[in-house]
Amino acid sequence: MPPRLLVIDQGTTSTRAMLFDHQGTVLARAQTELPQIFPAPGWVEHDPEVIWNHTLMLCRQALATPGASTEPIAGIGIANQRETTVLWDRATGKPVYHAIVWQDRRTAALCEMLATADNSALVAARTGLVLDPYFSASKIRWLLDTVPGVRERAERGELAFGTIDSFLLWRLTEGRVHATDATNAARTLLFNIHTQQWDADLLALFGIPASLLPEVRDNAAEFGITRLFGAPIPITGMAGDQQAATVGQACFAPGMIKSTYGTGCFMVQNTGATVVASSHRLLSTVCYRLQGQTTYALEGSIFIAGAAVQWLRDAVRLIDHAGEAEALARQVESTGGVYLVPAFTGLGAPYWDPLARGAIIGLTRDSGIAHIVRAALESVCYQTRDLMAAMQADGVCAPSALRVDGGMVGNDWMMQFLADMLDVTVERPQVTETTALGAAYLAGLGAGVFGSLDELSGHWQLEARFTPGMDDKRREQLYGGWNEAVGRTLSR
Ligand code: G3P
Repeated sequence: MPPRLLVIDQGTTSTRAMLFDHQGTVLARAQTELPQIFPAPGWVEHDPEVIWNHTLMLCRQALATPGASTEPIAGIGIANQRETTVLWDRATGKPVYHAIVWQDRRTAALCEMLATADNSALVAARTGLVLDPYFSASKIRWLLDTVPGVRERAERGELAFGTIDSFLLWRLTEGRVHATDATNAARTLLFNIHTQQWDADLLALFGIPASLLPEVRDNAAEFGITRLFGAPIPITGMAGDQQAATVGQACFAPGMIKSTYGTGCFMVQNTGATVVASSHRLLSTVCYRLQGQTTYALEGSIFIAGAAVQWLRDAVRLIDHAGEAEALARQVESTGGVYLVPAFTGLGAPYWDPLARGAIIGLTRDSGIAHIVRAALESVCYQTRDLMAAMQADGVCAPSALRVDGGMVGNDWMMQFLADMLDVTVERPQVTETTALGAAYLAGLGAGVFGSLDELSGHWQLEARFTPGMDDKRREQLYGGWNEAVGRTLSR
């Protein structure tokens, strides 16, 4: 019997563990929601101990799933919410504070202060990123400056920094390994994506001691061994969740593009060995690094996608279940001019306005729940169009198709509206849990279960294709209304 692969997919709002076979077929899955902590407006935290306890529990559940076979686990793959920052004590493994989540805006003023023209140019040139609270560096700096004793402990070399991948690896290996992978390192604002090294100038800019940093490895590599699930199991693959999804979507050729609709929406286009420097505020980042060879990507990140539906359900209670959104959107011909701009945690690409805040505009006496719900779903498609427009303005060719995945893509109505708004064919694969699948692929490459990217490309299978059908005039009219609505939420 062929070996199996265990995947940990630690996302912003949930954690899951999944078992895959050697062909990428799902054998078992276990999942639980992750509580969000909102200590102040614009602040978002997670409890790292909860993340760890959930991870352990879910891995054990997945491994114990009846019928999931008892063959050995060849490797573990980790995919994680990126940028989210943890500092922990090297001696005890205890975090010094909660994890500060990528969506957190508490460092907006710090970033604004640091973002002189020279610093912004330095950051862009070395990291491919923008100087925004989204990334880890300003969050580390906040912890060093704010939590009593932390800077002194860091300077004495007692503390370790990691994104969630690194923190989980530390715990899985019981403190033996402090490492990350190139995709996660590339999201810290401290990593030079050209040289693939931590950057001393950036560490100085943010006032961060180098002793905090993990070692950076390829995405398929020997990351260490865990003994927490019985027989020793190697951890052989690791990537930020959006890069893992790009691998799961088999976007291995330059020009191939995917968009993942989870908490946020992240559009990633493979740009091959070339770093495409964006003039439209997209990110140049690492797509994956395998056998020391770096493949780059252009990325557009929007902070709120599925989280808008969660907000409709939990905050304003317009729906009871996320699944109701599609039927409500179909109930009305249009939103009747209503736009919902979900700038709850500022706006990401291409606006990068941490102080923008959400709005619903265009309400009339006959606006109802269906209009607002539809506007929330449409907002995700408009934001995707913002990203694609920026990519094309950066000179990247229009893609022949956009591969989609994530929790929202089961919504056929939304996928059709997305194809209409982009005027691009949208392709939904059979496996939409592509983040976990990508982590399984990486772990399988690291463990020798899979031989090459070509072999993985052969596994990708189409489930549904949505072709654009909206006339140009209506498309541009709707999109024009969106641009006007966004304009009203910007802080500057
Ligand atoms: O950059 C943040 C991203 O990695 C979060 O992804 O899937 O948790 O929304 P997700």
